[in-house]
Amino acid sequence: MSPPLRIALLASGRGSNLAALLDAHARGELPVEFVLVASDKAEAGALRLAEAAGVPSLALDPRSYPSRRDFDLDLFARLAASGADLLVLAGFMRILDGEALAPWVGRMINIHPSLLPKYRGLHTHRRALEAGDPEHGASVHYVTAELDGGPVIAQARLPIEPGDDEHRLAARLLVLEHRLLPAVVRLIAAQRLALLPPDGVALDGERLPAPLRLDGDRLAP
Ligand code: GRF
Repeated sequence: MSPPLRIALLASGRGSNLAALLDAHARGELPVEFVLVASDKAEAGALRLAEAAGVPSLALDPRSYPSRRDFDLDLFARLAASGADLLVLAGFMRILDGEALAPWVGRMINIHPSLLPKYRGLHTHRRALEAGDPEHGASVHYVTAELDGGPVIAQARLPIEPGDDEHRLAARLLVLEHRLLPAVVRLIAAQRLALLPPDGVALDGERLPAPLRLDGDRLAP
């Protein structure tokens, strides 16, 4: 048996997606090891969750670096030193320097609350509502230098309901995010997923024609 996939997670906020991963692991459903949780915010809830779970945590303050790039280079050096095989971005609210992240392309994923390529960036729920979209969703994608632009691995979809406002929609989607992210990490841990440069994703060695879809707790073509 190969050793468990070592994960480092980056988060700026409350860390509910981290909690979903930790819970799946605690239930024996995720054969991974959490080696580090890092944040650009010392007060991030994600750091408290990591501490409670006995996972090493790290807060780096961007203001104490001369430039954005210096911060990113130090961050990635520490992530490399953690021994991580995979970096998971879950609500990490910073744009990363392309050169600094380059060594991790194919080994770094992000969860984004929209059906990419729709609504890169912020306020995705509001934008989906304002556009009158019939459905909304979340995507897990490989991270490349292009913001929210890397190849999409899998998506969870949900119909927009008449009573949805930004907060209700976000809350309903978050429930799905908490299934989507562990499901993707499970596939990566099983060594079934790979980035196909420049813009593709392979499952079991075959190029995916479209992102996988979350169906219950599972991912389906
Ligand atoms: C999630 O909605 C995620 O999709 C987005 O940021 C949010 C993070 O939430 N990238 P949490 O910190 O995991 O609770």
